Amino acid sequence: MQKLNSSVTDSVNFYMGTDPYDLVRKYGSPLYVYNENILRERCREMKKLCADPDFKVYFSIKANSNPSLLKIIRSEGIYADAVSRGEIFILLHSGYAPDEIFFVANNVSEDEIKYALDNGIMCSADSLSMLEKIGKIRPGTDVAVRFDPGVGLGHHKKVMTAGDGSKFGINPADIGAVKELLKKYELKLAGINQHLGSLFLESGEYIKGVESLLSVAEKFLETLEFIDLGGGFGIPYRKQAGEKRLDLNALGKRLDAIFDSFNKKCGKKIKFRIEPGRYIPAECALILGEVRSVKYNGPDKFAGTDIGMNVLMRPALYDSHHDIEVYRESNMISDKFEEISVVGNICESTDFIAHNRLLPEIFDGDLIAVLDAGAYGYSMCSSYNSRPRPAEVLIRADGNVELIRGRESYERFI
Ligand code: LLP
Repeated sequence: MQKLNSSVTDSVNFYMGTDPYDLVRKYGSPLYVYNENILRERCREMKKLCADPDFKVYFSIKANSNPSLLKIIRSEGIYADAVSRGEIFILLHSGYAPDEIFFVANNVSEDEIKYALDNGIMCSADSLSMLEKIGKIRPGTDVAVRFDPGVGLGHHKKVMTAGDGSKFGINPADIGAVKELLKKYELKLAGINQHLGSLFLESGEYIKGVESLLSVAEKFLETLEFIDLGGGFGIPYRKQAGEKRLDLNALGKRLDAIFDSFNKKCGKKIKFRIEPGRYIPAECALILGEVRSVKYNGPDKFAGTDIGMNVLMRPALYDSHHDIEVYRESNMISDKFEEISVVGNICESTDFIAHNRLLPEIFDGDLIAVLDAGAYGYSMCSSYNSRPRPAEVLIRADGNVELIRGRESYERFI
């Protein structure tokens, strides 16, 4: 097999001796392939972000909720946040204890809140209505409140979750109303939380958001035990172009200094948490897919693959960039690079993986690997066009390959 531009996967020994063509022959195409070593490495990096011994990491499982991966993440000492009854159900099934789960949902029903509380899981209220519902269902309980610190960030306006126009959190102008509800239902405000948005590689805005939330925290010091600073930690999606990683070392030092001075100022040991989603699983997975046609339409060249927007939604939804590698088993030889658009097999004109990307010349029968697909990849899959969701396999630390979710069956469609 020829690997034509595999510097990224080679540099991390992604395949650990397995052959991508063999994987596709055995498990079918398209296929999500995960690497356990990389997943563990990212968990460890997040865990040691801050030196504060009370610092905790809650993985936001919306990024990836495969139970086999969750078990690995838990074994690294990472807790979890859930945003729906389904996510709580998966976490309990995957071995998480209720006190390792934080429920940070928005616009949920009373049944959903009751399910969390009945399972002993701490809930965060995203609105005054939700706080009131929690109070009615379980007066006297410990709660958290999500505030909008007024600062948003993200790789695209569609993933900003605070600041102007955001639907999330309670505006600090409503602190008085929060206090009234806490009093009315004798609720104890144990924590406050925020989430500014998804993907920063420079931490300036994140720090602004942290400082803004700390000024809200000062209004609740009497009962406050923890402050959750949300997620958003970015990964470099453009590794082939040499994009730099987020400087976790500098960010961790900055956060430690902020925690330290806040605790001194308020004369109390507040426990700090973060809620990363993307950072933990994004880089441990890629999607393998087959090239099924190569054609010109006028001046534009297209490689038609089976990685449709149902398999990876991010490029269609946010114009997201994912690096692509090309592998070849046939004996076609070419050392040419050319601009080509890589598209899927879904009947929508937004069904692109890459627009006019400079790639090795692609031939029918080649395999492509779409990199950094472990976060918001499978979890955002659909069976649009009645195409089954793909299978997921895990390359274990010892190099063995395990099927961790089978391909969706056609029977499920009827
Ligand atoms: N906490 C809360 C309350 C969240 O809503 C999210 C993500 C996170 C934590 C984790 O954020 P992260 O560390 O992954 O940035 N589908 C989009 C990302 C949407 C994120 C939504 N909320 C994408 O593929 O880029």
